[in-house]
Amino acid sequence: MIKKIAIGCDHVGYELKPIIVEHLKTRGIEVVDYGTNDIERTDYPVYGRSVAEAVAEKNVDGGILICGTGVGISIVANKIKGIRAVVCSEPYSAKLSKEHNDTNILALGARVIGSEMAKMIVDAWLDAEFEGGRHKARVSMIESVN
Ligand code: RB5
Repeated sequence: MIKKIAIGCDHVGYELKPIIVEHLKTRGIEVVDYGTNDIERTDYPVYGRSVAEAVAEKNVDGGILICGTGVGISIVANKIKGIRAVVCSEPYSAKLSKEHNDTNILALGARVIGSEMAKMIVDAWLDAEFEGGRHKARVSMIESVN
């Protein structure tokens, strides 16, 4: 169960981030904010890496990343060992990504989805549980790839 989340975004995601932070807090989740916090142009790999390292080091139970598409920031997160980041623009994939792939980071595209859809996706991801069983062996196979 996710009780503490690291969150980060680039300048494109900075307006959506506080909405998601507020939503997480209403669910009783502790949030560690890795920035950015304004519109000044910055680089998504900085925030993707910081959040992914916090998750990999188990300082938090999971992470949420936001950039324009969610793509770049999830790519960098997936370079950190132990990270399984998914970018989602609808709740079904978010749910299944946790149940089957045991994702530990959810990425969102601020230019792709609205804030209400983003909250639905976050809820679907938070409410889902890894099913284990046959999926456990597959996740281990993912982890065995360098
Ligand atoms: C920034 O312009 C944009 O490239 C970034 O937010 C993200 O969409 C990258 O994948």
